[in-house]
Amino acid sequence: MSLTASDFRQAMGCFATGVTVITVDQEGKVHGMTANAFTAVSLDPVLVLVCVDHRARTHAHLHARKRFGVNVLRNDQQTISEYYARSAETHQHPEAAGARFDRTAQGTPVLQGALAYLECRLHSTETAGDHTIFIAEVEEVLVRDGEPLLYFRSQYRDIEPVGH
Ligand SMILES: Cc1cc2nc3c(=O)[nH]c(=O)nc-3n(C[C@H](O)[C@H](O)[C@H](O)COP(=O)(O)O)c2cc1C
Repeated sequence: MSLTASDFRQAMGCFATGVTVITVDQEGKVHGMTANAFTAVSLDPVLVLVCVDHRARTHAHLHARKRFGVNVLRNDQQTISEYYARSAETHQHPEAAGARFDRTAQGTPVLQGALAYLECRLHSTETAGDHTIFIAEVEEVLVRDGEPLLYFRSQYRDIEPVGH
């Protein structure tokens, strides 16, 4: 059996996830990147991880800033996910995609209206193939009511109770 990248993508596409935007302060500007390779790692200490492609601009920004936010998107924030998934985009007009930001006390950009926000301080990194695993300690969280944006088989989805 010889595994192709397409086989791997198809298999991973069956694993439905939420969608996040990773936010980093970049010399006073907001840099964002859509990411679903995000998961909890540890409870004590409270750690999460996000896997970032070496080619992503975010990769260098996370190494430089060592602090970032994870914004869990709500089901009405698909346009924001699409906006921060565009590599050529310079992110000059986030409000055109409906994205507005506040700042935490540490200066990290927080996406308004997201379902949850996690303020993360870099703990360690591990190079893994063409990605780097960024492990971070969660310092603060914010949770709001609402329904999540989901990603399944390369498409955005809305959540529904089982049986509907
Ligand atoms: C739903 C979705 C999830 C994604 N998840 C990741 C991810 O976990 N890690 C990653 O490196 N890129 C991920 N991407 C691709 C990045 O969002 C995309 O390459 C982005 O343009 C990188 O931006 P940057 O170069 O400004 O950092 C994802 C894209 C989509 C649409």
